[in-house]
Amino acid sequence: MSMTAAPHEPVLREVPMHLLRPAEPGVGVVVRNDRCTAGPKAAGFVRHLEIDVSGTPLERQCFPGQSIGVIPEGVDDKGRPHKVRLYSLCSPASGEDGQGKVYATTVKRTIDEHWETHRLFLGVASNLLCDSQVGDRLRVSGPNGKRFVLPQDLHAHDYTFFATGTGIAPFRGMLMELFAAGFKGRVTLIMGSPYATDLLYHDTLTTMQREQPGFAYLTAISREPGGPHGRQYVQDRLRTDRDRLLPQLTSERNLIYICGLAGMELGIFKELALLLPPDSLEQYIKADAEALAHIDSWERRMIHKEVRPTRRVMMEVYA
Ligand code: A2P
Repeated sequence: MSMTAAPHEPVLREVPMHLLRPAEPGVGVVVRNDRCTAGPKAAGFVRHLEIDVSGTPLERQCFPGQSIGVIPEGVDDKGRPHKVRLYSLCSPASGEDGQGKVYATTVKRTIDEHWETHRLFLGVASNLLCDSQVGDRLRVSGPNGKRFVLPQDLHAHDYTFFATGTGIAPFRGMLMELFAAGFKGRVTLIMGSPYATDLLYHDTLTTMQREQPGFAYLTAISREPGGPHGRQYVQDRLRTDRDRLLPQLTSERNLIYICGLAGMELGIFKELALLLPPDSLEQYIKADAEALAHIDSWERRMIHKEVRPTRRVMMEVYA
């Protein structure tokens, strides 16, 4: 199917989906499981997990921005078989091995206290993945998702990426893919973490920034008051780094990708609405005049109604 797009609207890649259904999963083998937080004493536990899918229909068929399913063995506390859980891929299409046989994901351990019983709650799948050892077999499905992917013509656009926490995953794969393709445009990644120790793939991204003149990597640390700008969310960078970001955001080439905690998209839309001249804002957000007169009171429920992102904004947010 071919899509018609207005000039500068992206024509996204057409990607394969559901080659393996959760009811008939394939078998992937863990080939690497490393910590990927920046500091040894990070507040959260996040791991970079590589899975060999060779010989399954997933081989060579996964793209950054898509996810794969993992179906834990065994039954839940009600005695039912575990459901599939989706994990966003952090690899380029060529995989970690360059041949599309090994794909990686970025997993945060879900650790919580039940608010009523104050018992420890451990997420089944995230802890299964984080505990896994090289050689362990996993039941996998997918790939899933077709909206949060790069455009067919990588070189036709510039990219502004916003991530919080493990929302960095697709951007790692996309950046690797862009630079492997010799991308010479502009890419800005704004990454939000509670503490500097919790930044993910920080060394990789810092090296990329050194080597790629068109790439800017900006961090927003939310719980350390001592940083250069104090406590920040990703959207606050739009204000503090206005002069640096404005030329790219107002360019007709630019696309915006947002991945991470639900709620971040609202903050980003508000800051864009405050920052951008009306004709640039229209490239990303169509808003009623009434809404534009009260940007400070925008709420999440208005998104897709009074405040409508255009096809130049890709979003993948989760609770
Ligand atoms: P905080 O939790 O300090 O309020 P992680 O997933 O590793 O916890 O990181 C998520 C990051 O996103 C944290 O820095 C968190 O800040 C921040 N965050 C939480 N809510 C929002 C929001 N609505 N908009 C932007 N960033 C947010």
